[in-house]
Amino acid sequence: MALKELLFDHSDRDLTRIEEYRAVGGYEGLRTAFGMERDAVIEDVLNSGLRGRGGAGFPAGRKAGFIPKPGQRHAPAYLTVNADESEPGTFKDREIMLRIPHAVIEGSLMAAYGIDAGEIFIYLRGEYLQEFEVMKAALEEARAEGLVGDDILGSGWGCTIVLHRGAGAYICGEETALLESLEGNRGQPRSKPPFPAISGVYGAPTLINNVETLATYPFILRMGGGEYAKLGVENSAGTRVFSLSGNVANGGNYELELGTPLRELVYEIGGGIPGGRQLKAIIPGGSSVPVLSADEVDTPLDFDAMAEAGTMLGSGAVIVIDDRACMVQLGLRVAQFYMHESCGKCTPCREGTRWMVQILKKLEDGTADQGELDLLLNVCDRILGNCLCPLGDAAAMPIASYVAKFREEYQRHIDEGGCPFGGESSLAGVLAPVDQHHAHQRAQIEVPVHELA
Ligand SMILES: Cc1cc2nc3c(=O)[nH]c(=O)nc-3n(C[C@H](O)[C@H](O)[C@H](O)COP(=O)(O)O)c2cc1C
Repeated sequence: MALKELLFDHSDRDLTRIEEYRAVGGYEGLRTAFGMERDAVIEDVLNSGLRGRGGAGFPAGRKAGFIPKPGQRHAPAYLTVNADESEPGTFKDREIMLRIPHAVIEGSLMAAYGIDAGEIFIYLRGEYLQEFEVMKAALEEARAEGLVGDDILGSGWGCTIVLHRGAGAYICGEETALLESLEGNRGQPRSKPPFPAISGVYGAPTLINNVETLATYPFILRMGGGEYAKLGVENSAGTRVFSLSGNVANGGNYELELGTPLRELVYEIGGGIPGGRQLKAIIPGGSSVPVLSADEVDTPLDFDAMAEAGTMLGSGAVIVIDDRACMVQLGLRVAQFYMHESCGKCTPCREGTRWMVQILKKLEDGTADQGELDLLLNVCDRILGNCLCPLGDAAAMPIASYVAKFREEYQRHIDEGGCPFGGESSLAGVLAPVDQHHAHQRAQIEVPVHELA
């Protein structure tokens, strides 16, 4: 297996322009969809085996099937596109929007047609200013060509699209916090049930999917779900865009068939680890997932294989860590991010992330005692499964995995009374520290307010 061209066309075409997108078959799938029964569109996605690309990997066709049928709903249905992309290490949705904004629009229209939603909200990460401009321009083109609005392509069906910018909060990528934010409320999760499929935005049935999930719809409808299912491996169909970063020669976004071994991404496509360094660990799905050790580098990039290895494909962010890294420092950096981003609504997450940071700081300084290492694991244990939304788990799971896989390193910090790796500097190139993250956020968000599309 190697690089795959499905979403990412490697020609010189500028696919941000509608005529170029049309020249490679763009919006043909939408026409095909209009010739099909609504249920058949969703059925095709179900047959394709497409699983959500936002994090949890839920089958996309099944999720769309949860939306009550038009005659059985209490309110009009909506589609929400999750373009919040804030999981550290993840930068694929931005490239999808920058390169093929029309695939995001076309796929969203297909999904909206399939569930009969007359309005789509694209919830876009606040820092993504360029992406906002590109999406806005693409929407204007699509509108001018009658692809958005009333009676699209003479189908008798109409749909509007609203581009909504977030304001710099990781929690707003969580689907129910996103809905709150969209409604103009503080972005905090709702308790479930009811699930968004029944009661989402404005209490109406709402389908929420990630950018990449929806950008894949046009390719599925064009080639047919059965053909798409032949890509990848059983239970993990198709291609996926992986964001490769950290201590690797050629970081970037790479579209691969699911099932490709992690080793191939890191060493062949990514060019391996620079400076003659050794691989120490790999985070395979964004900062919130458990870590893999170097000897697990042959694990295939598929949902089931990752689950068997005790981790997840998550958001598709593969972070390579070399032998310079201090795993206590890494834990601290990750915990600081989640502490900052905890919305504070539920106690285990609000208090637990704070405790994690305090203990990790002491470990890193060399002032923690033996009991505090056990306390750290105890705090993780008390967070896991006990929060209103998965943000708490996202903080606890990685930290617990660092201790489990690199316990001797944690122990050395206690025994030697300090960091044997040189502290923060040991993480060169692996995840930005939380203060840098926020400086960047402020710089990007404090731009003039744009008119909403
Ligand atoms: C704290 C938190 C942050 C999240 N951030 C994102 C995000 O930025 N983008 C995204 O697509 N999904 C994010 N998710 C997952 C969404 O809740 C949701 O599962 C996803 O949008 C569903 O889309 P999919 O089924 O197409 O994968 C996040 C989840 C949590 C718990």
